[in-house]
Parts: sequence; structure tokens; C-alpha cells
Amino acid sequence: MLGEKLPDSYFESYGTCLITGGLGSLGVCLARWLADHGVKNLALLGRSGKPQSDVAGDLEALSSSSSPCIVIRACDVSCEEAVRNCFEELGRTLPITSGVFHAAGVLDDHAVRSLSSEHLKPVLGPKIDGTLHLHAASAALDVQTFCMFSSVASMLGNPGQANYCAANAFMDSFAQYRLANGRPALSIQWGPWAEVGMAARAGFSGVRFPLLDPKLALEAFGATLQSAAGKVPQGVAARGVIGLARVNWAVVLGRVSAAPPLLECFRPTSLQSAAPSASISTCPASKATAAVSNDGAARSGDEDTGAAAAQDDSPDVSSSGVQSA
Ligand SMILES: NC(=O)c1ccc[n+]([C@@H]2O[C@H](COP(=O)([O-])OP(=O)(O)OC[C@H]3O[C@@H](n4cnc5c(N)ncnc54)[C@H](OP(=O)(O)O)[C@@H]3O)[C@@H](O)[C@H]2O)c1
Repeated sequence: MLGEKLPDSYFESYGTCLITGGLGSLGVCLARWLADHGVKNLALLGRSGKPQSDVAGDLEALSSSSSPCIVIRACDVSCEEAVRNCFEELGRTLPITSGVFHAAGVLDDHAVRSLSSEHLKPVLGPKIDGTLHLHAASAALDVQTFCMFSSVASMLGNPGQANYCAANAFMDSFAQYRLANGRPALSIQWGPWAEVGMAARAGFSGVRFPLLDPKLALEAFGATLQSAAGKVPQGVAARGVIGLARVNWAVVLGRVSAAPPLLECFRPTSLQSAAPSASISTCPASKATAAVSNDGAARSGDEDTGAAAAQDDSPDVSSSGVQSA
């Protein structure tokens, strides 16, 4: 685990926390978690304004509790005018927005050779245009947390997800851009979540990235924010781009002929002799970032027997071959 637990009062001083993709699965889990940590006002933005079915009951329960105050808006974040209007309207009715959580996103997986613009726009729009519009619309506000929900696919790649990887990689880079300009920024490269969310709905089985328990995922997220507040545990970067994922390194590295030197640190000893590169490091995984757990050789080949597992890591991905979120 990353470090200290986030205090229950962490967000008490925040005005409003705005969540894009706030009616999506992770968005609703995040809303519940923010409420548990002191948020009193939540603005949940979704494209259609309708909740994902796997969290509709949770949203209803949260909305019917006395706190926090929740407003729901339909807003396509890839549309500049819609975002600007939404911020203006929320600014008139709610306390100032001090937390922006950008969790809007969609998957549309295809092998690179069959990617066309119709597969790019819906995936890039919310993450690239949406990030830029949120950045602009919140520029004059005293935003204390600007957090983007990226993916481990951006960190390690994933067959069939070139569009999704690019969209998330933009947010990772944009976090660095904001930081360089003195603005808060975190981009969380999530591994796939279990039970709820786009990966769970797609039946992702977790050969390369074992699924994250939602409760533990949010605990790790809290510890990340805690480190972003300045209490940096065990060398984890305080802000910027952080991976919160379980990685089966034996599988991930066992299937590539050469990995960047940093990743070679994670290569299980049993695979090292097979590695073609002279750049193999023998540094143990425990010395690498604590934000990415090493599920290591012990898990290799012992899971994922379902149909989705057969698709996982296939170099030739069908249009429905969702492998990681
Ligand atoms: N679930 C995972 O395991 C996982 C892992 C890594 C990263 N992530 C990232 O975490 C975020 C949330 O994922 P999730 O599993 O909660 O997905 P989800 O359940 O499918 O929810 C995504 C939400 O984003 C909204 N959205 C899509 N395009 C939008 C747009 N242009 N403007 C406004 N809202 C838009 C959708 O609204 P409509 O339904 O109305 O279109 C939906 O409510 C995504 O960005 C995803 O890439 C998820």
C-alpha cells in the first residue's frame, strides 16, 4: 500500500467537487468516496445525463442522503461551449469549484490497421478536448485538485487500444504541463477495476493486469492524494503521473522482446535468461515505485481461463476485443 490513509475530513474545506463521467461507474464510486471524505457539494457531469446501470442504485442512495448536495448535469466535455456554460451555471448556484476530477471516457478498441477517424473522435474527444476545456474553464478558479483518470494502458500499452492509449497519454502529458505552469495536476493510470466500470462490464479477465478491488483502489487513491499534499511516502512521486495498477510482470514482460530499462527492473528472475537485451537490471521490484504492485511470477498463467482471457494480449484484436480499461 502506498502510505497513510486519507483523513475523513480531507475535502471539508473544498467548495464543490466536479466529476466528469460522474454518472459512470468509477465516477459514482468516486462521488461516494469524496462524500465519505468531507465533500459537501458535488457536481456530476455525464454526456447523456443517465447513470451506468451497474451504479444506478448507488447513485440513487447517495442522492437521497442528506449530504452531500448533488447536482447532475448533462454535458459533453468534448464541446468547449458546453463546458464553459456548465461552469458558468454551476458557479452561480454552487460554492466555487475547488476539485476537478476528470473521469469521462469511452472505449472503442480496434487493431491499428482498422482504426479510422470514426474510432478516434469519440475516444480522443473526452480525454483530449475535454481536458483542455476543463483546464480553460477552471483557470480562474482556486482549484486545489485537478485529477485525470488515465489508464495503465497509457503506461504499458495494450493491443487494440492505440486510440485509448493516445487519449490517456495526452492527459499524462498535460499533467506535467499544468505542473510546469504552477497548477495542481494528477493523472492516475488506473489498472482495470473489478465489479464495476468499463473493464468489468467488458468481461476483462486480467491476464496482464489483475483486477483492482474498488475499495482498495480508492484507498490507494487516497494515499496518492495524501502524498500529493506533500507527505511523500517511500519515494512515490508527489504529483504528476501515478500508476495505480496490479501488473502481472511475468506476462507483460514475458511477451515483449525488449522493454525499456526501467521496466526490466520488474522482470521476474525466471524470465531474465530469456531476455534478449543486455540492459537487464537485477534490481528487485520492491525498489521500484510502490504505486504499482508487482503481481509477479506467482500469478503467471494461473488465471484467466474465460473467453476474455483468450483475447487478452492477442496481437490481432477484433473490434470487440476489449482488454484493459
Ligand atoms: N473502469 C476501469 O477499470 C478503468 C480503468 C482505467 C481507467 N479508467 C478510466 O476511468 C474513467 C471512468 O471509467 P468507467 O469505468 O467509470 O467508465 P464508464 O462506467 O463507462 O463511465 C464513463 C462515463 O463517461 C461519460 N462520458 C463519455 N464520454 C463523455 C463526454 N464526451 N462528455 C461527458 N461524459 C462522457 C459517460 O457518459 P454516457 O454514458 O452518458 O456517455 C459515462 O458515464 C474513464 O476515463 C476510463 O478511461 C477506467
